[in-house]
Amino acid sequence: MPKKENIIAGFSESRELAASIARRSGSRLTIIDVGNFPDKETNLRFNVDLRGKKVFLVRSLDDPDRKIIEVLFAAQTAKELGAKKVVLIAPYLCYMRQDKRFRPGQAVSSRIIAKLFNMFLDGLITIDPHLHRYKRLNEIFKKNPKRLTAIRLIAEFIRKEIKNPFIFGPDFESYQWAKTAACMIGCEVDVLKKHRYGSDTVRIKIKEKLDLGSKSAVIVDDIISTGHTVIEVIKDLKALGAKKIYCICTHGIFAEDSLRKIEGLGAKVVSTNTIKTRVSRIDVSGMIAEEIGKIYDEISS
Ligand code: R5P
Repeated sequence: MPKKENIIAGFSESRELAASIARRSGSRLTIIDVGNFPDKETNLRFNVDLRGKKVFLVRSLDDPDRKIIEVLFAAQTAKELGAKKVVLIAPYLCYMRQDKRFRPGQAVSSRIIAKLFNMFLDGLITIDPHLHRYKRLNEIFKKNPKRLTAIRLIAEFIRKEIKNPFIFGPDFESYQWAKTAACMIGCEVDVLKKHRYGSDTVRIKIKEKLDLGSKSAVIVDDIISTGHTVIEVIKDLKALGAKKIYCICTHGIFAEDSLRKIEGLGAKVVSTNTIKTRVSRIDVSGMIAEEIGKIYDEISS
């Protein structure tokens, strides 16, 4: 079947990534019209024929609550308009850190989101999802979940752009990315211990006596949100004499003006374009386009 049978459907803010995925995978691009009725209800409309097509919705789920409703409306509408399959490409998948009831009475949001996706979608492609208490996506996402990783692209970036890197993973979860990147580059790595006391309070201490004078310290993590995690590490690295400090992440959420705060400490910040910001220097569209080719038949049956 020709790939033009695939429709890549972007939303206004994901237009650029969707266009690049469509071009690289030889699929047809459409941008979904989303507006509001006067009472603020969502008014969503496809403007291409979807009959018999596989529709790949492209949208990262930072700022998630409004975006999720629109994605569910789009998925259901695509089905009603005759789409054969509807897959969500959510390069950044929200709520994955809410994977247990941390306080009595609290919602376990990741499970609720998964339940909704299981009802409305035929597949899910995401990049570096935050898997901590769940080891695999399919523990909660039941419809063809695919987990990609940007670590090869991040390692390539470090190799090309940063001299003499020494990689730091801020916490145990970052082990997978920090160690893998260091292994690919062939450089030193240290994975630290983090204690989180709330969204705004983390403590990280580098125990070893490291001489970082001649190195570029590179903090590698999946997500930078409030920035508290990397800011704690930056303080320690400076105390160890680091002159050049980089923070590299897959998903740059940069809540609470954290990008400016991190840069204010003299660190250089780089992220992929799963969430497009002024520091998105690593492009994930090629990797996603390849995956579309691969799952083309898998979800056909
Ligand atoms: C948590 O374990 C993640 O890997 C990140 O370290 C964390 O989400 C970063 O959050 P923040 O920037 O708010 O400290």
